[in-house]
Amino acid sequence: MKKTKKILVLNGPNLNMLGVREPELYGKQTYRDLVEAIEKHARERGVFVTVFQSNSEAVLVTKIQRALGIYDGIVINPAAYTHTSVALLDALKAVAIPTVEVHLSDVSRREDFRQISYVRLAVAKTIMGRGFDGYLDAMDFLLGIGDGESEES
Ligand code: DQA
Repeated sequence: MKKTKKILVLNGPNLNMLGVREPELYGKQTYRDLVEAIEKHARERGVFVTVFQSNSEAVLVTKIQRALGIYDGIVINPAAYTHTSVALLDALKAVAIPTVEVHLSDVSRREDFRQISYVRLAVAKTIMGRGFDGYLDAMDFLLGIGDGESEES
């Protein structure tokens, strides 16, 4: 029997403030809404998912390290740590688990300091500017479903 795939979804600093923080950029839906959308998608796809958020770089590094041998794929929105963290890059390289980088907003159209992504050097794909759907597309990419684009509902 085929083994159930396990995906770890990691969210970095301030994403717990979704719905409150800059709604014009990140939308009005809350972090809880995001977790529910991811969990619903995982149920539909028959995969096991863990969704985790931390404001701490160290905690995120430890989560990545502990994913080794447990998870088949990682979806990560490192938020502000995208642009600063060599530690997250090194952790992803250390475990070498297939990873997709996701951003709710289209960072390519934002400030210069957001144009650097350290984790990008260790990921298979980057999805930006698709809001919550970006996470679902990332899961599908890791599952090898389509080209990672969710069907329109
Ligand atoms: C973000 C983009 C980052 O530049 C920012 O620091 C975030 C969220 C996004 O999802 O669009 O916190 O990762």
